[in-house]
Amino acid sequence: MHDIEHFLAAYPDYAHTAALDELRRREYGRLDAAGHVYLDYTGGGLHAASQVREHAELLNQEVFGNPHSASPSSIAMTRRVESARAAVLDYFDAAGEYTAVFTPNATGALKLVAEAFPFEPGSRLLLTADNHNSVNGIREFALAKGASLDYAPLTRPDLRIDAAAMATELAQAERGCSHLLAFPAQSNFSGVKHPLALVDQAQAAGWQVLLDAAAFVPTNRLDLSAVRPDFVVLSFYKMFGHPTGVGCLLVRKAALARLRRPWFAGGTVNFATTQGAMHVLSKGEAGFEDGTLNYLSIPAVEIGLRHLQRVGLERIQSRVRCLTGWLLSALVALRHGNGRPMVRLYGPTTTVERGGTVTMNFYDPEGHLLDYRRLEELAGERGISLRTGCFCNPGAGEAAEALSEDDLKAGLALGEDVSLARFVGVLQQRGGKSAGALRVSLGLASNFADVQRFLAFAAGLRDETSLTLGAVSFDIESCRVVRDGS
Ligand SMILES: Cc1ncc(COP(=O)(O)O)c(C=O)c1O
Repeated sequence: MHDIEHFLAAYPDYAHTAALDELRRREYGRLDAAGHVYLDYTGGGLHAASQVREHAELLNQEVFGNPHSASPSSIAMTRRVESARAAVLDYFDAAGEYTAVFTPNATGALKLVAEAFPFEPGSRLLLTADNHNSVNGIREFALAKGASLDYAPLTRPDLRIDAAAMATELAQAERGCSHLLAFPAQSNFSGVKHPLALVDQAQAAGWQVLLDAAAFVPTNRLDLSAVRPDFVVLSFYKMFGHPTGVGCLLVRKAALARLRRPWFAGGTVNFATTQGAMHVLSKGEAGFEDGTLNYLSIPAVEIGLRHLQRVGLERIQSRVRCLTGWLLSALVALRHGNGRPMVRLYGPTTTVERGGTVTMNFYDPEGHLLDYRRLEELAGERGISLRTGCFCNPGAGEAAEALSEDDLKAGLALGEDVSLARFVGVLQQRGGKSAGALRVSLGLASNFADVQRFLAFAAGLRDETSLTLGAVSFDIESCRVVRDGS
């Protein structure tokens, strides 16, 4: 039997997603025209050709000006922006209870919450160790206002939230203060889907909840009539590639009313004076959309949502699950000539409660770490786009490699010159742990051939010994990997 037959026998649901192969030909033909294997959907989604066409036609047909004024060009634009806003609320079943604030990206949405959340002495900020740095950054605002900070740990090796430790943390919220729990619906490091039931559980214990949905929504439905976090953040380019530069904060109206903005700007006030230094913030989302929106891009959000709806999220999810299952089992099975495993996977090795983001490191037959930056270069030479590093998620990486406080202190001892590359060097001297990895992630346009091309690349590392960290080093100035002695 050929691999494809084995695959279809093991994952019969894949056959029901055949419409995506036709879609790939029609809408994502540039991938195969260039022989490109795109495996960085968690970094950014890919756009369909028709999304860009429809957007360009709209811009070329109508006269659009800066919204929120009474001129015809402005009114036309305001209508499009408000139509996109309504489409976003509809898409997430959030109309009525939520407000949608357009932001430059998920990070922009997180910062709006971070700086305006009513942290005070007695408040607590609870973060999961698995969080993107744009969520970790909230702690700076919380600590500056006298709140306390805790991290809920992950279990190893699955990198899931430790449910018992989380329950203990949640039970310790003092009544009368505002507390915030922030966690990702899906990890951008391990692909783990964290339990959405945590939202209700935390709210019942007196917490407000921020759900980072950035890595979840490209392949999963988020129904905000069923799960009701106080805040949800996301970036649209991760869902459907185009446009970049637009994200969203979905915020429950009651939670919005509790936020206290630390400043005002053009576009966010109903009234401001220079005499007496007074201002009246606009109501609703308008009070949070600083300056001019990325208005020409916003209609592309509505186009992208329609595209995703037409393609069908369940179909995408099913395909990604089948491909991820195949990829995981094949990677686990890879062996060097001496029988030792070639790959170490971080996070779950089955598709249960996980998405299509797979993070790993490769080792030589003696168990020495291969340099993931060199592997990225080699994959690139074969037309494969993947991602390496720590993916802005230091906590998941620390848990994955069980880095100790001493390991981290040894890195910080490098002072201002500390970088991920140098930290990896320090860890190698301390016994061979890694502080970074290689990540492949699947999405809407992925197919079996993509996965096979990556697996062929991975299998090519059998008995490889010249790519260990000892044999190569990273030149910070040129940002290139150099071989010792070259
Ligand atoms: C889980 C998660 N949260 C937040 C972000 C930040 O998104 P952005 O860079 O678009 O602001 C990312 C980006 O990779 C992410 O994966």
